[in-house]
Amino acid sequence: PLLPVILSGGSGTRLWPLSREAYPKQFLSLIGEQSLLQATWQRVAPIVSYPPIVVANNEHRFMVAEQLRQAACTPAAVLLEPVARNTAPAIAAAALQATSEGHDPLLLILPSDHVIRDVEAFRLAVSEASAAAQAGQLVTFGIVPTGPETGYGYIKAGLGKGVRPVEKFVEKPDLATAKEYVTSGAYYWNSGIFLFRASRYLEELERLQPAILAACKTALAAAKRDEDFIRLDEAAFSSCPSDSIDYAVMEKTASAAVLPLEAGWNDVGSWAALWAVADQDGDGNAHHGDVVAVSCRNTLAWGKDRLITLLGLEDIVVVDTDDSILVAHKDRVQEIKEIVSRLNADG
Ligand code: GDD
Ligand code: MG
Repeated sequence: PLLPVILSGGSGTRLWPLSREAYPKQFLSLIGEQSLLQATWQRVAPIVSYPPIVVANNEHRFMVAEQLRQAACTPAAVLLEPVARNTAPAIAAAALQATSEGHDPLLLILPSDHVIRDVEAFRLAVSEASAAAQAGQLVTFGIVPTGPETGYGYIKAGLGKGVRPVEKFVEKPDLATAKEYVTSGAYYWNSGIFLFRASRYLEELERLQPAILAACKTALAAAKRDEDFIRLDEAAFSSCPSDSIDYAVMEKTASAAVLPLEAGWNDVGSWAALWAVADQDGDGNAHHGDVVAVSCRNTLAWGKDRLITLLGLEDIVVVDTDDSILVAHKDRVQEIKEIVSRLNADG
């Protein structure tokens, strides 16, 4: 039995000014009509045995509920976090909820803010990974790296075909190390999508980070439940150490396994990444909304209500929203966080 866990707690600011703290990336429709959150559910709906457990920040509860409703999804539970404590606690709370009635389902952990172009290939990979997960492995899906990105986890896979043991898992290495890994050809990126039995994750967390497990147990036991939401107890969850599954468990466990995934995966971590997965015209221009581009190459223009016109530009990103305009060089969009922190500092 396969139970999807959708992580919707991120507060992406790298797609500013479209994504905001109050309106993070997973709620945006970046490719196609659906939001990334809705696409995450629909990607797995035909292959799962249960509706999802969704873990989200309390602030976003109405947006989560409304978007799931629109996507014809009645979740098994929506767990609300009073504060963000990263993915290790979020997954722990979901695993505890999933096992609360004595079941031990396979959890398919899904970030809610990725694009996967080849849905069929993704579904096949999940089914291929199921036996290893059932047998107790913590399976992640590996992506062939296209460059020395430092924002990803790197996985050295053992020899063989299909699901193989992880020889080494390094979360967010520095640039020199990432370059070395990519050149070696022996490493995959961690997709951030995981498959394991709920009980296996809880066992490993107990061994490696018992304080996280203890805080999550208390937060769930003392949670306030109503028809729509399970509100994790604020005092208990706030006291939980903040850590990601990657650092807390995947780097350290001896039970990690990896299955390569070739499915057009992209975590849309920047405007440049969105440009790369968006539909482009013959000159590499990707446009959303009402855009006229003359003599332009490799531009991304994202409009809403106003017409955007571009003339004689290359590698430029233009984003228009109700209250802000971004104009940036495509090679510099990683630095948008500096704009955002400047804006926050200015209040
Ligand atoms: N509920 C909840 N609570 N969800 C969270 C929280 C939280 O506190 N923090 C993050 N998430 C969600 C995000 O919304 C996203 O969908 C997912 O968990 C991963 O979090 P990110 O913050 O985007 O992680 P990352 O991009 O730095 O790194 C992870 O993903 C990479 C691939 O995109 C790691 O798993 C890397 O190893 C991996 O390469
Ligand atoms: Mg991410």
